[in-house]
Amino acid sequence: MPIPEEFIQELKSRNDIVDVVAAYVNLKRSGRNMVGLCPFHNEKTPSFNVSRENEFFYCFGCGAGGDVITFIKKAENLDYIDAVKFLAQRAGMSMPEDSRDSGLAHLKNRIYEANREAARFYHKQLYTPEGKQALDYLRKRNLSEKTIIHFGLGYSPPSRFELVNHLKSKGFTNQEIIQANLANLSKKGYPFDRFSDRVMFPIIDLRGNVIAFGGRIMSDIKPKYLNTSDTPVFNKSRNLFALQFAKNKAKGQLILVEGYMDVIALHQAGFENTVATLGTSLTQEQALIIKRYCDEVVICYDADEAGQKATSRAIAILRGVDLHIRVLRVPDGKDPDEYIKNHGEQGAARFRMLLDKSSNDIQFRLDSLKKQYHLELSDQRVEYLTEAVKVLAQLDSSIEQDVYLSELSNELNVEKQAVKMQMQKYQKRQFRDARKKEQRDIYDAMTAKNDKINSEKFYNLRAANAEEGLISLIMKNPDTAKQIFRQLSPGQFMTSFNRKVYEILKKHSESGGECTMTCISGEFSNEETGSIARILASRPRENDPGRAAEEYIRILTEENEKMTPEQIAQADTQTIMEQLRKLKEKKK
Ligand code: GTP
Ligand code: MN
Repeated sequence: MPIPEEFIQELKSRNDIVDVVAAYVNLKRSGRNMVGLCPFHNEKTPSFNVSRENEFFYCFGCGAGGDVITFIKKAENLDYIDAVKFLAQRAGMSMPEDSRDSGLAHLKNRIYEANREAARFYHKQLYTPEGKQALDYLRKRNLSEKTIIHFGLGYSPPSRFELVNHLKSKGFTNQEIIQANLANLSKKGYPFDRFSDRVMFPIIDLRGNVIAFGGRIMSDIKPKYLNTSDTPVFNKSRNLFALQFAKNKAKGQLILVEGYMDVIALHQAGFENTVATLGTSLTQEQALIIKRYCDEVVICYDADEAGQKATSRAIAILRGVDLHIRVLRVPDGKDPDEYIKNHGEQGAARFRMLLDKSSNDIQFRLDSLKKQYHLELSDQRVEYLTEAVKVLAQLDSSIEQDVYLSELSNELNVEKQAVKMQMQKYQKRQFRDARKKEQRDIYDAMTAKNDKINSEKFYNLRAANAEEGLISLIMKNPDTAKQIFRQLSPGQFMTSFNRKVYEILKKHSESGGECTMTCISGEFSNEETGSIARILASRPRENDPGRAAEEYIRILTEENEKMTPEQIAQADTQTIMEQLRKLKEKKK
């Protein structure tokens, strides 16, 4: 890392971890820590802890953890340097000279700049003779001048060189233009515009950067839409179209549609809380982002079969992150954009009515389930009922449950009590399964069975626990740390992950630094940092850290002397007897 240690220290002291996290999580005090609902996974009871004293966060639910820089890396989807920049900006610090333009961060900035310049260029083209057809196209699709400007829409000219030449004249290199995916490389090795003769939709992130484009052809040629492929600044499964506008208009609810044009038409009609995925089906990452800005999503996909299938998939994903869901069905096989357009002046009012009428996802799920069965056959009716009660079992409100149970029993001519019992049987089984899984998880965690970061822990449990005890002591008690470093060499650590942590801490201390989460976070991946945060979070403060250190060192020494199963298998009788004698002596 080219960023000097002093800078990071200053950054850390000016960005209190509790203050930074509080912008994303509603934190409440609990003992020495602050706790809240984890922003990185879905949960109902808070297991996300922040320690101001030890400058780290840890989630007992998903294992995310680290210092304030790790937090910003994860929360804002940034790499290390950009997370540092983000925090520097927050604290009003300017980045040190030599780190300002390093490597990936530099490239990303150049791509943002190239994209912004391209967006400007495309937009201007709309008002040239060549671009007139594109402007007419947008007008024909009912977009006002104001909307076109608001969304920064544009036109990519048909010649394959205009954008490339324009960007070059502004000082961008071929390499940068290609990395931004604004151009492709020809077989002969020269770059040519990726988008040609298309209406252009810039995709903008939450910080206002132009990160990608979608381009629509104005004829029937395929592909209808061409999008930017993933680049260093763009990942299509982590972004949503128009979220930069919609997030401020959400008021608890976002509308989710399929296409760019649907979003734009709805915004123009006054539904500015609308977003779309970027030409792919909804991902869990997007669902978690959505959840930051609302607690209810109205799914309003196309009325065709593909749209309905996509609705089922989206329901599963949004439910998975505990969002309330409604499903809005656009009548007459239309998508929202066509619907609004076809109703002219009445478009917005009609859509408002559909929105008010939209019902929760249960009705949608029952309806699509029903379509899979021939209800005139009794065995199919039983199968339908069995599946339907599983859907109803997920409802929180027992009143709502009761209404649906009545409907089901009337519809299928089955005693309501019988349907209800079937549902309760299923609920009990689910509850039992959940309890079993919870117990299994606790057991696995205790024995480190599935520890992916420290895979040697399972086989060296006693030693690894002592190692972790020492790591925790070092990071919480500077005085004891010195004592430990004097007594224990890294070679005595038996698991290699903990050894690496120890080595880094030791080196850091020897060069006069503090042993905190911050000196770790630059050296490890997010997952590894999370694992180290777990070590800190799961150990209470020691009353007598010096004595605790002695005890851990004793355990570690003892474990080091034990023979491994392989050594035992290869050793002669005399060596084994000698070993046993030593152990017995120790016990006395
Ligand atoms: P219009 O026909 O312009 O109204 O588009 P639409 O928004 O109705 O598009 P459609 O329902 O066909 O597709 C929804 C979304 O899927 C679009 O906004 C694009 O993001 C994406 N998409 C559609 N066609 C293509 C394609 O050919 N290639 C890719 N990569 N994405 C597409
Ligand atoms: Mn459409």
